[in-house]
Amino acid sequence: MIQDSLRTGHTGTRCHFDLQKKQQNRLGLPNLGYGVGLRSQHFPYLMQQEDVLVDWFEIISENFIGNYGYGRHVVKTMAEKKPLVMHGVSMNIGSSGALDTEYLKQLKELAQYLQPKWISDHLCWTGLLHVNTHDLLPIPLTEESLQYMIERVRTVQDYMERPLVIENPSTYLEFSQNTITEWDFLRLLALETGCGLLLDVNNVFVSAFNHGYDAEHYIRQLPHEHIVQIHIAGPTHCGDYMIDTHDQPVPTPVWHLYQLAQSLTGGVSTLLEWDANIPEYPTLVEELFKAKHILNGGFFPTEQLKKTKKALSTPLSSPHYNSIENERTA
Ligand SMILES: [Fe+2]
Repeated sequence: MIQDSLRTGHTGTRCHFDLQKKQQNRLGLPNLGYGVGLRSQHFPYLMQQEDVLVDWFEIISENFIGNYGYGRHVVKTMAEKKPLVMHGVSMNIGSSGALDTEYLKQLKELAQYLQPKWISDHLCWTGLLHVNTHDLLPIPLTEESLQYMIERVRTVQDYMERPLVIENPSTYLEFSQNTITEWDFLRLLALETGCGLLLDVNNVFVSAFNHGYDAEHYIRQLPHEHIVQIHIAGPTHCGDYMIDTHDQPVPTPVWHLYQLAQSLTGGVSTLLEWDANIPEYPTLVEELFKAKHILNGGFFPTEQLKKTKKALSTPLSSPHYNSIENERTA
């Protein structure tokens, strides 16, 4: 059936729970407007402000799982002011190992506490045998792995009792066994499971550069009615390859992809990711609102990509990752 779908470009949608009505309009999920990732560096500033300047926030779920301290207090306070979305980096949904039921249980508990508009994670695997690599690693793109991912997404959605939103990853290598393009894989996954898509246009830009494909073609081939959110960010140009670092302003080519994506979706929630060299909060918001400026017909920002050999960043508050960064920057 999947081979037929690749030829015809569509499939019959099968759902374990009733998504039929929601699918008519991006799964019934709203356009939240313009948001930023909530990061601990900005907690003191935000807790002193009446007006947080943005329409909504995205959090990294893992930073608040098992955290009952000040961070949870801040995120709950922000959730009472603005809509919130939970974005994960450790679901490990593409792993060949069993799904981590304890992780899913904690994720569901956090969702019950924060009432996010939706929950997202990546088309990737992150570890095996209880080892978390803290890297979003590519999966093989074959009929077999597509069927496997369809079952995994269905299982998670059934357990979470809500559609999962899947983000396209940035990748630096790919399997020679691949038989399906990433855009076809995501399209079929969305159509078969009813999941939503988080389109990271910066990740498309990064992967297109690294693998030599057409970023605009990628975006045009996706099922736009399933896209509920867009990520924008600034990557790092390392010469022969591009790395998804989220450490600088959004470059002009990514703004062009953003405009294309919004014209195809009809307008979905926009989120600026910034995870290293994080600017002061007002500067972050200034960068975010360039998106609004562009969609209102304004000029494109002319941001040049910085070139460097050193590039590493993470949104996780992790001692393990900090030690890696210290080694790399030493
Ligand atoms: Fe992203």
